Amino acid sequence: MKISVIGTGYVGIVSAVCFAELGHEVICVDVDRPKIDKIKAGIPPIYEEGLTELLNKHAGKNLSATTDYNFAVKNSEVSFICVGTPSDQHGKIDLSIIKSASASLGDSLRTKQEYHIVVVKSTVVPETTEKVVLPIIEEHSKKHLGNFGIAMNPEFLREGKAVHDFMHPDKIVVGSMDKKSGDVVASLYNGIDCEVTRTNPRTAEMIKYVNNAYLATKISFSNEIGNICKILGINTYEVMKAVGRDFRIGPHFLNSGAGFGGSCFPKDVKALIEKAKEIGYEPVLLRSVISVNEMQPERMVQLLKSRLGNIKGRKIAVLGLAFKNDTDDIRESRSIPVIKELLDNGAMVSAYDPMANENMSKIFGNIQYNENAADALNGSDACMIMTEWEEFRSLDKEFNQMKNKLIIDGRHMLTPKKDLEYVGLCW
Ligand SMILES: NC(=O)c1ccc[n+]([C@@H]2O[C@H](COP(=O)([O-])OP(=O)(O)OC[C@H]3O[C@@H](n4cnc5c(N)ncnc54)[C@H](O)[C@@H]3O)[C@@H](O)[C@H]2O)c1
Repeated sequence: MKISVIGTGYVGIVSAVCFAELGHEVICVDVDRPKIDKIKAGIPPIYEEGLTELLNKHAGKNLSATTDYNFAVKNSEVSFICVGTPSDQHGKIDLSIIKSASASLGDSLRTKQEYHIVVVKSTVVPETTEKVVLPIIEEHSKKHLGNFGIAMNPEFLREGKAVHDFMHPDKIVVGSMDKKSGDVVASLYNGIDCEVTRTNPRTAEMIKYVNNAYLATKISFSNEIGNICKILGINTYEVMKAVGRDFRIGPHFLNSGAGFGGSCFPKDVKALIEKAKEIGYEPVLLRSVISVNEMQPERMVQLLKSRLGNIKGRKIAVLGLAFKNDTDDIRESRSIPVIKELLDNGAMVSAYDPMANENMSKIFGNIQYNENAADALNGSDACMIMTEWEEFRSLDKEFNQMKNKLIIDGRHMLTPKKDLEYVGLCW
């Protein structure tokens, strides 16, 4: 089929190349012209494993890119909205970008005769597709539902494994208001070995939030248990390994550490909290999930100070800036509050990340960025491990470059060694 993808960030570009790989004709749309020029040239706007290969395979063939909504709508049958849905300053979902994309789609639909389906793929709080997106499209297109279709199809991919996850999902959810639109959207995934869950838009929206909120809850729960275990001198990893053998619990997401970051978990949990408040419910558990998460980076700096005392003027190596391994995404990375706290205390930060140095330099222009871990560690008074990059596991001789061999590990990466003072965050 002919698909247009509105917004070519992480979700948009990955969806676009994967739909192209499934044999569809795809038009990428973005308001960011340099991004569109890159895509046209076969250069991915972000790093994701396997993305360059797929983009090169399809760009200029069954994948094109434009800033022109009219062209994209005219030349496609289905439009996926994949624009950002950030938090406002109170944690509430900010729908301004979705509203603007919906208005542009509606304007373009006004002159289109053929049936067209608009699919919301962005993560939006329950009722948004029906109560925000649909009315805007109706107003701008001067058409009513039925002349066009609407559906909600949340995305569950993990950054770092996004292409793999799109092609090998454990669930595909399609929420539609009419059967015809739902059938078409579900059929776009033909060729992927996964059952499609069919439902209404608000349930599809809720499934996405519950998924993320539950995973975030598992992490904060594990971190709280880890904090308690550390004080008691119990190995939390041994505890959670045994606990995870209970089939009702499962072994995943039970690792304690510096907490969750990224563009989804923090914002989605906060958006669900605000949505609950809006409808008169006080979400006590979800609030605690955020509180525990915000405490973990502070605990790392406290551990550092408990060993070094005053850190003013001390050189602290921060290994890992991305919010997780295998991505250059630093949004809500736990390294951000740690670096901020270090700088507020007068420390000098010497950082290294295999992929995210450049992105982090846009937030902290005043720290030292290094090309490798050894350079970051050189002459440092302590090292803080913030991201689970595989290459950090094999660090060894590099620690000899440190002035003071103190490691505060926020990700359970290293095995303690004789000549290192090794301090685990929760272990
Ligand atoms: N990043 C993830 O891992 C992930 C996973 C699942 C779901 N989601 C959800 O998917 C949505 C998109 O997330 P993302 O991380 O891809 O966002 P992003 O910020 O990386 O990308 C959004 C893109 O939309 C473009 N854009 C902004 N306004 C536009 C407009 N009016 N018309 C066309 N394009 C416009 C931006 O230029 C940008 O390229 C969010 O709702 C997010 O919560 C993200």
